Amino acid sequence: MTNKEIALTINQAVQTADVETAAALVAENYIQHTPVIPDGRKGFKMFLTKIKNNEIPAPKLKTVRVIEDGNFVALHHEAHWPNRKAMFEIFRFEDGLAAEHWSAMMDHPENTASGNRMFDGATEIMDLDKTDTNKEIIKTLMNEVFMKGNFDKSLILGFYHPEVIQHNPFIDNTVDGLIDRVSQLQEQGIKIQIEHLHCLLAQGNFVLAFSEGKFGNDGVKPTAFFDLFRLENGRIMEHWGIVQEVPDTMTHDNGMFRLPLYKRLGGYDGIAAYIDHAFPQVAAHPDLQHLFLGHSMATKMRQRQLIIDKLSSSLKGPTIYLGKPLKEIHQGLNITLPQWESFMAIINKAMDERGIKGETKKDFIDHFESYRSVTVEAELESV
Ligand code: HEM
Repeated sequence: MTNKEIALTINQAVQTADVETAAALVAENYIQHTPVIPDGRKGFKMFLTKIKNNEIPAPKLKTVRVIEDGNFVALHHEAHWPNRKAMFEIFRFEDGLAAEHWSAMMDHPENTASGNRMFDGATEIMDLDKTDTNKEIIKTLMNEVFMKGNFDKSLILGFYHPEVIQHNPFIDNTVDGLIDRVSQLQEQGIKIQIEHLHCLLAQGNFVLAFSEGKFGNDGVKPTAFFDLFRLENGRIMEHWGIVQEVPDTMTHDNGMFRLPLYKRLGGYDGIAAYIDHAFPQVAAHPDLQHLFLGHSMATKMRQRQLIIDKLSSSLKGPTIYLGKPLKEIHQGLNITLPQWESFMAIINKAMDERGIKGETKKDFIDHFESYRSVTVEAELESV
Protein backbone atom coordinates (compact mmCIF):
# COMPACT_ATOMS: atom_id res chain seq x y z
CA MET A 1 0.00 0.00 0.00
CA THR A 2 1.15 3.57 -0.63
CA ASN A 3 1.14 6.06 2.23
CA LYS A 4 -1.97 7.63 0.73
CA GLU A 5 -3.75 4.28 0.67
CA ILE A 6 -2.73 3.59 4.26
CA ALA A 7 -4.08 6.99 5.39
CA LEU A 8 -7.40 6.33 3.64
CA THR A 9 -7.61 2.77 4.99
CA ILE A 10 -7.02 4.00 8.55
CA ASN A 11 -9.81 6.50 8.01
CA GLN A 12 -12.16 3.85 6.73
CA ALA A 13 -11.30 1.57 9.65
CA VAL A 14 -11.98 4.37 12.16
CA GLN A 15 -15.46 4.86 10.68
CA THR A 16 -16.30 1.18 10.81
CA ALA A 17 -14.53 0.68 14.18
CA ASP A 18 -12.31 -1.99 12.62
CA VAL A 19 -9.87 -1.95 15.53
CA GLU A 20 -7.39 -4.53 14.22
CA THR A 21 -7.05 -3.11 10.68
CA ALA A 22 -6.46 0.43 11.96
CA ALA A 23 -4.04 -0.66 14.69
CA ALA A 24 -1.96 -2.75 12.25
CA LEU A 25 -1.29 0.36 10.14
CA VAL A 26 0.11 2.56 12.91
CA ALA A 27 3.48 2.25 14.62
CA GLU A 28 3.62 0.91 18.15
CA ASN A 29 4.85 4.30 19.37
CA TYR A 30 2.38 6.19 17.14
CA ILE A 31 2.64 9.84 18.24
CA GLN A 32 -0.81 11.27 18.64
CA HIS A 33 -1.54 15.01 18.59
CA THR A 34 -5.34 14.83 18.25
CA PRO A 35 -6.44 16.00 21.71
CA VAL A 36 -9.14 13.32 22.23
CA ILE A 37 -7.17 10.26 21.08
CA PRO A 38 -4.70 8.69 23.56
CA ASP A 39 -1.06 8.18 22.54
CA GLY A 40 0.51 5.16 20.84
CA ARG A 41 -0.96 2.16 19.07
CA LYS A 42 -2.39 1.08 22.40
CA GLY A 43 -4.18 4.41 22.89
CA PHE A 44 -5.52 4.30 19.33
CA LYS A 45 -6.91 0.81 19.93
CA MET A 46 -8.58 1.98 23.16
CA PHE A 47 -10.20 4.85 21.28
CA LEU A 48 -11.43 2.59 18.47
CA THR A 49 -12.76 0.06 20.95
CA LYS A 50 -14.86 2.84 22.50
CA ILE A 51 -16.30 3.59 19.05
CA LYS A 52 -16.96 -0.13 18.57
CA ASN A 53 -18.77 -0.28 21.92
CA ASN A 54 -20.79 2.83 21.05
CA GLU A 55 -19.26 4.79 23.91
CA ILE A 56 -18.10 7.36 21.33
CA PRO A 57 -20.07 8.01 18.12
CA ALA A 58 -18.35 6.82 14.92
CA PRO A 59 -17.31 9.68 12.63
CA LYS A 60 -18.67 9.77 9.08
CA LEU A 61 -15.94 11.16 6.84
CA LYS A 62 -16.07 12.10 3.19
CA THR A 63 -12.51 12.77 2.05
CA VAL A 64 -12.58 15.59 -0.45
CA ARG A 65 -8.87 16.30 -0.92
CA VAL A 66 -5.65 14.36 -0.42
CA ILE A 67 -2.19 15.91 -0.58
CA GLU A 68 1.01 13.89 -0.52
CA ASP A 69 4.32 15.51 0.25
CA GLY A 70 7.34 13.31 1.03
CA ASN A 71 6.45 11.04 3.92
CA PHE A 72 3.41 13.15 4.84
CA VAL A 73 -0.19 12.71 3.73
CA ALA A 74 -2.84 15.36 4.46
CA LEU A 75 -6.59 14.75 4.20
CA HIS A 76 -9.42 17.26 4.00
CA HIS A 77 -12.79 15.86 5.07
CA GLU A 78 -16.40 16.73 5.25
CA ALA A 79 -17.16 15.20 8.64
CA HIS A 80 -20.34 14.32 10.49
CA TRP A 81 -19.29 13.76 14.07
CA PRO A 82 -22.07 14.01 15.18
CA ASN A 83 -22.90 17.35 13.49
CA ARG A 84 -21.48 18.67 10.22
CA LYS A 85 -17.86 19.73 10.47
CA ALA A 86 -14.84 20.44 8.30
CA MET A 87 -11.72 18.53 9.25
CA PHE A 88 -8.07 18.35 8.30
CA GLU A 89 -5.64 15.67 9.33
CA ILE A 90 -1.98 14.99 8.65
CA PHE A 91 -0.16 11.66 8.91
CA ARG A 92 3.61 11.25 8.96
CA PHE A 93 4.83 7.84 7.78
CA GLU A 94 7.89 5.85 8.72
CA ASP A 95 8.71 2.38 7.36
CA GLY A 96 5.25 1.86 5.88
CA LEU A 97 3.34 2.73 9.07
CA ALA A 98 1.70 5.91 10.32
CA ALA A 99 4.16 7.26 12.89
CA GLU A 100 2.58 10.60 13.86
CA HIS A 101 -0.83 12.22 13.48
CA TRP A 102 -2.27 15.73 13.78
CA SER A 103 -5.83 16.95 13.20
CA ALA A 104 -8.29 19.75 13.82
CA MET A 105 -11.95 20.27 13.08
CA MET A 106 -14.50 23.04 13.09
CA ASP A 107 -18.32 23.13 13.11
CA HIS A 108 -19.83 23.99 9.75
CA PRO A 109 -22.19 26.94 10.30
CA GLU A 110 -25.62 26.89 8.68
CA ASN A 111 -24.73 29.90 6.52
CA THR A 112 -21.31 31.08 5.35
CA ALA A 113 -20.26 34.64 4.44
CA SER A 114 -19.49 33.68 0.84
CA GLY A 115 -22.27 31.13 0.39
CA ASN A 116 -19.56 28.49 -0.29
CA ARG A 117 -19.35 25.38 1.83
CA MET A 118 -16.19 24.66 3.81
CA PHE A 119 -15.15 21.71 1.65
CA ASP A 120 -16.51 22.24 -1.87
CA GLY A 121 -14.54 23.77 -4.77
CA ALA A 122 -11.67 22.56 -6.93
CA THR A 123 -10.09 19.21 -6.10
CA GLU A 124 -7.88 18.39 -9.06
CA ILE A 125 -4.15 18.38 -8.40
CA MET A 126 -2.19 19.90 -11.29
CA ASP A 127 1.01 21.92 -11.93
CA LEU A 128 3.19 19.31 -10.22
CA ASP A 129 6.27 21.14 -11.47
CA LYS A 130 5.21 24.19 -9.41
CA THR A 131 5.09 22.39 -6.03
CA ASP A 132 8.25 24.01 -4.62
CA THR A 133 7.49 27.50 -5.97
CA ASN A 134 3.95 27.42 -4.57
CA LYS A 135 5.21 26.20 -1.20
CA GLU A 136 7.69 29.08 -1.09
CA ILE A 137 4.92 31.62 -1.92
CA ILE A 138 2.76 30.38 0.98
CA LYS A 139 5.75 30.36 3.34
CA THR A 140 6.36 34.02 2.48
CA LEU A 141 2.65 34.82 2.88
CA MET A 142 2.56 33.23 6.33
CA ASN A 143 5.68 35.11 7.42
CA GLU A 144 5.00 38.50 5.86
CA VAL A 145 1.22 38.78 6.34
CA PHE A 146 -0.05 36.46 9.07
CA MET A 147 2.92 36.41 11.42
CA LYS A 148 3.64 40.10 11.14
CA GLY A 149 -0.10 40.95 11.19
CA ASN A 150 0.38 43.18 8.14
CA PHE A 151 -2.92 43.17 6.20
CA ASP A 152 -2.04 45.99 3.87
CA LYS A 153 -4.07 45.60 0.66
CA SER A 154 -1.15 46.11 -1.72
CA LEU A 155 0.85 43.44 0.13
CA ILE A 156 -2.09 40.98 0.11
CA LEU A 157 -2.69 41.56 -3.60
CA GLY A 158 0.86 40.32 -4.19
CA PHE A 159 -0.27 36.88 -2.99
CA TYR A 160 -4.01 36.59 -3.67
CA HIS A 161 -5.99 36.83 -6.87
CA PRO A 162 -8.40 39.80 -6.37
CA GLU A 163 -11.35 37.43 -6.98
CA VAL A 164 -10.18 34.70 -4.56
CA ILE A 165 -12.83 32.10 -3.69
CA GLN A 166 -13.26 31.71 0.07
CA HIS A 167 -14.30 28.62 2.01
CA ASN A 168 -13.52 29.98 5.45
CA PRO A 169 -17.13 30.37 6.63
CA PHE A 170 -16.67 33.88 8.05
CA ILE A 171 -14.87 35.49 5.12
CA ASP A 172 -16.48 36.66 1.91
CA ASN A 173 -15.01 36.01 -1.55
CA THR A 174 -12.43 38.45 -3.00
CA VAL A 175 -9.45 40.20 -1.42
CA ASP A 176 -11.79 43.00 -0.28
CA GLY A 177 -13.81 40.36 1.60
CA LEU A 178 -10.67 39.21 3.38
CA ILE A 179 -9.59 42.74 4.29
CA ASP A 180 -13.13 43.63 5.48
CA ARG A 181 -13.15 40.58 7.76
CA VAL A 182 -9.78 41.48 9.27
CA SER A 183 -10.86 45.07 9.99
CA GLN A 184 -14.17 43.80 11.39
CA LEU A 185 -12.23 41.56 13.82
CA GLN A 186 -9.87 44.39 14.72
CA GLU A 187 -12.84 46.71 15.46
CA GLN A 188 -14.26 44.05 17.78
CA GLY A 189 -10.88 43.81 19.53
CA ILE A 190 -10.39 40.26 18.25
CA LYS A 191 -6.77 39.32 17.80
CA ILE A 192 -5.62 36.96 15.06
CA GLN A 193 -1.95 36.10 15.22
CA ILE A 194 -0.01 33.24 13.68
CA GLU A 195 3.02 32.58 15.88
CA HIS A 196 4.59 29.43 14.51
CA LEU A 197 4.28 27.68 11.19
CA HIS A 198 4.64 24.01 12.09
CA CYS A 199 4.13 22.29 8.80
CA LEU A 200 3.87 23.26 5.16
CA LEU A 201 2.82 20.52 2.75
CA ALA A 202 2.44 20.96 -0.97
CA GLN A 203 1.50 19.02 -4.03
CA GLY A 204 1.28 20.94 -7.30
CA ASN A 205 -1.33 23.69 -7.06
CA PHE A 206 -2.31 22.89 -3.43
CA VAL A 207 -0.41 24.04 -0.33
CA LEU A 208 -1.50 23.26 3.24
CA ALA A 209 -0.18 25.35 6.14
CA PHE A 210 -0.58 24.06 9.69
CA SER A 211 0.22 26.69 12.25
CA GLU A 212 -0.14 27.73 15.85
CA GLY A 213 -1.25 31.11 17.08
CA LYS A 214 -3.84 33.12 18.95
CA PHE A 215 -7.40 33.94 18.03
CA GLY A 216 -10.06 35.68 20.08
CA ASN A 217 -10.56 38.58 22.46
CA ASP A 218 -10.06 38.51 26.20
CA GLY A 219 -7.58 35.93 27.41
CA VAL A 220 -6.77 34.91 23.80
CA LYS A 221 -6.37 31.16 23.72
CA PRO A 222 -3.73 29.16 21.85
CA THR A 223 -5.26 28.07 18.58
CA ALA A 224 -4.54 25.64 15.74
CA PHE A 225 -4.94 26.93 12.18
CA PHE A 226 -5.19 24.78 9.07
CA ASP A 227 -5.12 26.78 5.82
CA LEU A 228 -5.33 25.14 2.45
CA PHE A 229 -4.55 27.26 -0.60
CA ARG A 230 -4.99 26.55 -4.29
CA LEU A 231 -2.74 28.58 -6.53
CA GLU A 232 -3.00 29.50 -10.17
CA ASN A 233 -0.05 31.19 -11.89
CA GLY A 234 1.60 32.03 -8.59
CA ARG A 235 -1.52 33.59 -7.02
CA ILE A 236 -3.99 32.19 -4.45
CA MET A 237 -7.25 31.46 -6.24
CA GLU A 238 -9.05 29.50 -3.52
CA HIS A 239 -8.76 29.10 0.27
CA TRP A 240 -10.17 26.69 2.85
CA GLY A 241 -9.49 27.43 6.49
CA ILE A 242 -10.33 25.97 9.85
CA VAL A 243 -9.54 27.21 13.31
CA GLN A 244 -9.64 25.13 16.50
CA GLU A 245 -8.90 26.32 20.00
CA VAL A 246 -6.26 24.17 21.73
CA PRO A 247 -8.08 22.47 24.62
CA ASP A 248 -6.70 22.93 28.15
CA THR A 249 -6.54 19.19 28.70
CA MET A 250 -5.74 16.35 26.30
CA THR A 251 -5.61 12.59 26.62
CA HIS A 252 -1.81 12.74 26.08
CA ASP A 253 1.04 15.15 26.75
CA ASN A 254 2.17 15.53 23.12
CA GLY A 255 0.44 18.86 22.48
CA MET A 256 -1.49 19.58 19.27
CA PHE A 257 1.59 20.63 17.29
CA ARG A 258 4.87 19.00 18.20
CA LEU A 259 6.26 16.93 21.00
CA PRO A 260 7.60 18.76 24.04
CA LEU A 261 11.41 19.14 23.92
CA TYR A 262 11.85 16.50 26.66
CA LYS A 263 10.20 13.86 24.47
CA ARG A 264 11.95 14.99 21.29
CA LEU A 265 15.31 14.51 23.04
CA GLY A 266 14.39 10.92 23.85
CA GLY A 267 13.26 11.58 27.43
CA TYR A 268 15.52 10.91 30.41
CA ASP A 269 17.66 8.33 28.58
CA GLY A 270 18.25 10.64 25.61
CA ILE A 271 19.29 13.51 27.90
CA ALA A 272 21.57 11.21 29.94
CA ALA A 273 23.27 9.92 26.76
CA TYR A 274 23.79 13.51 25.58
CA ILE A 275 25.33 14.60 28.90
CA ASP A 276 27.58 11.52 28.96
CA HIS A 277 28.85 12.64 25.56
CA ALA A 278 29.20 16.38 26.30
CA PHE A 279 30.20 16.56 29.99
CA PRO A 280 33.66 14.91 29.66
CA GLN A 281 34.44 17.33 26.81
CA VAL A 282 33.49 20.32 29.02
CA ALA A 283 35.67 19.07 31.88
CA ALA A 284 38.61 18.50 29.51
CA HIS A 285 38.44 21.81 27.60
CA PRO A 286 41.60 23.96 28.06
CA ASP A 287 39.51 27.04 29.06
CA LEU A 288 37.44 25.09 31.61
CA GLN A 289 39.46 22.15 32.90
CA HIS A 290 40.94 24.09 35.86
CA LEU A 291 37.42 24.27 37.34
CA PHE A 292 37.15 20.50 37.52
CA LEU A 293 40.67 19.68 38.77
CA GLY A 294 40.90 17.37 41.73
CA HIS A 295 37.30 16.14 41.44
CA SER A 296 37.11 12.47 42.40
CA MET A 297 35.25 9.99 40.23
CA ALA A 298 32.44 9.96 42.82
CA THR A 299 32.16 13.77 42.66
CA LYS A 300 32.04 13.67 38.85
CA MET A 301 29.32 11.01 38.95
CA ARG A 302 27.29 13.09 41.41
CA GLN A 303 27.65 16.17 39.18
CA ARG A 304 26.65 14.17 36.13
CA GLN A 305 23.51 12.91 37.91
CA LEU A 306 22.56 16.37 39.15
CA ILE A 307 23.04 17.94 35.70
CA ILE A 308 20.80 15.27 34.11
CA ASP A 309 18.18 15.69 36.86
CA LYS A 310 18.27 19.48 36.49
CA LEU A 311 17.78 19.34 32.70
CA SER A 312 15.09 16.65 32.88
CA SER A 313 13.05 18.40 35.55
CA SER A 314 13.37 21.83 33.86
CA LEU A 315 12.12 20.24 30.62
CA LYS A 316 9.09 18.92 32.55
CA GLY A 317 10.17 15.31 32.62
CA PRO A 318 9.12 13.15 35.59
CA THR A 319 12.37 13.86 37.48
CA ILE A 320 13.02 15.76 40.69
CA TYR A 321 16.16 17.89 41.00
CA LEU A 322 17.45 17.69 44.56
CA GLY A 323 20.56 19.86 44.10
CA LYS A 324 21.16 23.43 45.17
CA PRO A 325 20.07 26.43 43.05
CA LEU A 326 22.49 26.85 40.13
CA LYS A 327 23.35 30.43 41.05
CA GLU A 328 24.61 29.26 44.43
CA ILE A 329 26.61 26.41 42.84
CA HIS A 330 28.39 28.54 40.26
CA GLN A 331 28.90 31.68 42.37
CA GLY A 332 32.59 32.21 43.09
CA LEU A 333 33.80 29.95 40.25
CA ASN A 334 34.31 33.22 38.35
CA ILE A 335 33.07 31.78 35.05
CA THR A 336 33.66 34.42 32.37
CA LEU A 337 31.68 35.15 29.20
CA PRO A 338 34.46 33.75 26.92
CA GLN A 339 34.42 30.57 29.04
CA TRP A 340 30.64 30.38 28.62
CA GLU A 341 31.15 30.69 24.87
CA SER A 342 33.69 27.82 24.88
CA PHE A 343 31.12 25.80 26.85
CA MET A 344 28.34 26.58 24.37
CA ALA A 345 30.60 25.62 21.44
CA ILE A 346 31.00 22.15 23.01
CA ILE A 347 27.26 21.93 23.73
CA ASN A 348 26.55 22.82 20.10
CA LYS A 349 29.07 20.40 18.56
CA ALA A 350 28.00 17.57 20.88
CA MET A 351 24.41 17.98 19.61
CA ASP A 352 25.63 17.53 16.03
CA GLU A 353 27.62 14.48 17.09
CA ARG A 354 24.55 12.99 18.81
CA GLY A 355 22.29 13.69 15.81
CA ILE A 356 20.24 16.39 17.61
CA LYS A 357 19.29 18.70 14.78
CA GLY A 358 16.79 21.17 13.32
CA GLU A 359 14.22 22.73 15.67
CA THR A 360 15.09 20.29 18.45
CA LYS A 361 18.70 21.49 18.39
CA LYS A 362 17.60 25.12 18.30
CA ASP A 363 15.22 24.63 21.25
CA PHE A 364 17.83 22.71 23.27
CA ILE A 365 20.45 25.43 22.62
CA ASP A 366 17.91 28.07 23.76
CA HIS A 367 17.31 26.01 26.87
CA PHE A 368 21.05 25.98 27.68
CA GLU A 369 21.23 29.72 27.00
CA SER A 370 18.58 30.21 29.71
CA TYR A 371 21.21 29.07 32.29
CA ARG A 372 23.75 31.70 31.29
CA SER A 373 22.53 34.17 33.91
CA VAL A 374 22.99 31.57 36.69
CA THR A 375 26.45 30.52 35.51
CA VAL A 376 28.47 33.53 34.28
CA GLU A 377 29.82 35.45 37.30
CA ALA A 378 29.22 38.92 35.81
CA GLU A 379 25.54 38.11 35.24
CA LEU A 380 24.78 36.44 38.59
CA GLU A 381 23.92 39.72 40.32
CA SER A 382 21.01 40.35 37.96
CA VAL A 383 19.21 37.10 38.94
C1 HEM B 1 30.40 27.53 31.35
C2 HEM B 1 29.51 26.61 31.77
C3 HEM B 1 29.62 25.89 33.07
C4 HEM B 1 30.72 25.64 33.84
C5 HEM B 1 32.17 26.06 33.58
C6 HEM B 1 30.27 24.91 35.01
C7 HEM B 1 31.09 24.49 36.01
C8 HEM B 1 30.69 23.77 37.09
C9 HEM B 1 31.56 23.29 38.16
C10 HEM B 1 33.07 23.58 38.26
C11 HEM B 1 30.81 22.60 39.02
C12 HEM B 1 31.26 21.96 40.29
C13 HEM B 1 31.08 22.89 41.42
C14 HEM B 1 31.52 22.34 42.74
O1 HEM B 1 31.87 21.15 42.83
O2 HEM B 1 31.50 23.11 43.68
C15 HEM B 1 29.46 22.61 38.52
C16 HEM B 1 28.40 21.96 39.09
C17 HEM B 1 27.14 21.89 38.57
N1 HEM B 1 26.67 22.54 37.46
FE1 HEM B 1 27.76 23.69 36.22
N2 HEM B 1 28.92 24.71 34.91
C18 HEM B 1 28.48 25.28 33.74
C19 HEM B 1 27.18 25.29 33.23
C20 HEM B 1 26.15 24.60 33.80
C21 HEM B 1 24.84 24.51 33.22
C22 HEM B 1 24.39 25.15 31.90
C23 HEM B 1 24.08 23.75 34.03
C24 HEM B 1 22.65 23.41 33.80
C25 HEM B 1 22.12 22.26 33.92
C26 HEM B 1 24.93 23.36 35.16
C27 HEM B 1 24.55 22.56 36.22
C28 HEM B 1 25.37 22.17 37.26
C29 HEM B 1 24.98 21.27 38.31
C30 HEM B 1 23.60 20.64 38.47
C31 HEM B 1 26.09 21.06 39.13
C32 HEM B 1 26.21 20.10 40.29
C33 HEM B 1 26.23 20.77 41.57
C34 HEM B 1 26.63 19.90 42.74
O3 HEM B 1 27.59 19.11 42.65
O4 HEM B 1 25.96 20.07 43.73
N3 HEM B 1 26.16 23.90 34.96
N4 HEM B 1 29.41 23.32 37.36
